[in-house]
Amino acid sequence: MLTNNKNVLNWVEEMVALCKPDQVVWIDGSEEQLKALTDEAVSTGEMERLNEEKLPGCLLHRTNPNDVARVEARTFICSRKEEDAGPTNNWCDPKEMYAKLTPMYDGVMKGRTMYVIPYSMGPIGSPLAKVGVELTDSIYVVLNMDIMTRVGKAAFENLGDVSNDFVRGLHSKADVDPENRYIVHFPEDNTIWSINSGYGGNVLLGKKCFALRIASYQGKNEGWMAEHMLILGIEAPNGETTYISAAFPSACGKTNLAMLIPPEVYAKQGYKVWTVGDDIAWLKPGADGRLYAINPENGFFGVAPGTNMKSNPNALKTTMKDTIFTNVAHNLDDNTVWWEGLDKNPPEHAVEWTGKPWNGKTDTDVKGAHPNSRFTAPARNCPCISPEFDNPQGVPISAMVFGGRRAKTAPLVYQSFDWKHGVFVGSTMASETTAAATGAVGVVRRDPMAMLPFCGYHMGDYFAHWLEMGEKLGDKAPKIFNVNWFRTDDEGHFIWPGFGDNMRVLMWIVARCKGEADAVETPIGYEPKPEDINLEGLDIDLDTLKGLLNVDIDLWKEEAAGIHEFYAKFGDKLPEELKHQLAALEERLGK
Ligand code: GTP
Ligand code: MN
Ligand code: MN
Repeated sequence: MLTNNKNVLNWVEEMVALCKPDQVVWIDGSEEQLKALTDEAVSTGEMERLNEEKLPGCLLHRTNPNDVARVEARTFICSRKEEDAGPTNNWCDPKEMYAKLTPMYDGVMKGRTMYVIPYSMGPIGSPLAKVGVELTDSIYVVLNMDIMTRVGKAAFENLGDVSNDFVRGLHSKADVDPENRYIVHFPEDNTIWSINSGYGGNVLLGKKCFALRIASYQGKNEGWMAEHMLILGIEAPNGETTYISAAFPSACGKTNLAMLIPPEVYAKQGYKVWTVGDDIAWLKPGADGRLYAINPENGFFGVAPGTNMKSNPNALKTTMKDTIFTNVAHNLDDNTVWWEGLDKNPPEHAVEWTGKPWNGKTDTDVKGAHPNSRFTAPARNCPCISPEFDNPQGVPISAMVFGGRRAKTAPLVYQSFDWKHGVFVGSTMASETTAAATGAVGVVRRDPMAMLPFCGYHMGDYFAHWLEMGEKLGDKAPKIFNVNWFRTDDEGHFIWPGFGDNMRVLMWIVARCKGEADAVETPIGYEPKPEDINLEGLDIDLDTLKGLLNVDIDLWKEEAAGIHEFYAKFGDKLPEELKHQLAALEERLGK
């Protein structure tokens, strides 16, 4: 036992009595312990060691083929009152849910070991950090949590002997039965129960479950924010760094933007980009009244397919050691890994993600890696990890950016008129489905602040919380922007080059924050003067850029109608302010 905290000890005892494991092992985070667990997982075939020269310390794991992604339909927010979960979450009465799940956990760990994982979300000792304890019967979970969070005794030191402020996570793989898979949050009890899954997003309970769903609820009650945002810093040649956070829906480029490599035009001047986080930000006003952000995580859980030396070299380099690969192809020739989009040279002697022999050169109708296959890599491996990554105070945020995939509607970039208007922009965020992902192309899915699957309470109350935070921050509040890298031409090709070149847009945002750039007022917000976006070295002329910045009034009238429909979901809980914002937009568009 690594703590004297009675709240922890009593709860662990209770859960042990319920799950009835053969033994209980407390994870102290020591190298010896983790090595012994790795050896054990390798001996049972749960994990495979990869090429020690090419991928030192790296492991491969396959999940059950029925268990490869987050399952929103089986994810619940069990607040006591249904209205507190809101229209965007599945809800069940907590008493009912405990009654349903308790028998499923009863004796589920017989013949197995229960691992007790103490972890900190956020740097140890940070005023923004929080403690969690996850109980699990999976070594895979232990090893992943060790990469994604700060695991071990130090987390308990942060908690102290009497505090009850820790999140109780209970996970069992059980028998990975999809019919009985549940990912359940009890926000009022600081509790998460997950059963019948072994896939990352469902079982690494520090991540989406705690750091977004439970933490968003805590943040509302405690005056801070938990957001689905990357955090990056842009360092100018004079050494001054401006920090930006950005929320895009899943698969819209957070990890890419967070690790961007400056284009030549900025690199030669000495600009640098630093990654603080690629997925989650916890934000709280600091002593000087500005909004400070930490990345509560300690690693990256990134999508593997499509990651390559061109699209995201920093992410690829991050995965070259001490990384766990899940559901990628196993190259038997040199005991390495492969995924679609890594290079044009698929392995001939390989095992695909479900465990069947696979020849990447001839079996072209079968995928080597699952489209949602992942790498779990330590943040410290990242070549551009920020020197402030472990700063307990976090970094001051100058700008918050929203974005998504919009083929026609949203311009390349615009700035909100003020914080309230910015909350409106975030609350109406949307992304269009792509041809690759589903049958129907261009279907708009509204995903406010990219939090649709992750907000742990009523989304109307969440909007109100954003508005309150703005009141509190006053003129120290970050400026709010919206970007769209995904405008397409008539043939459906992306017009903007994206990736590293997105820095050209970020540089206008930085200039706006410093009061160094002008803007043009449009009905939807402030836009850059076209000549203020640096196009040096790009294949794009000023007219194309003007097209990217164009606001199509008819499309925006349709957009406003869509927002009306979406807002109707929230009934009385929709803040009056957002209704005013929508009316004001319609006014500006000219009815
Ligand atoms: P989660 O980690 O699931 O929350 O998602 P994410 O926001 O980190 O998404 P990720 O960075 O993994 O998204 C990758 C997808 O976005 C890939 O299909 C990329 O090709 C695409 N992408 C990223 N940046 C750009 C860009 O600037 N332009 C274009 N056209 N595509 C981009
Ligand atoms: Mn990501
Ligand atoms: Mn995410």
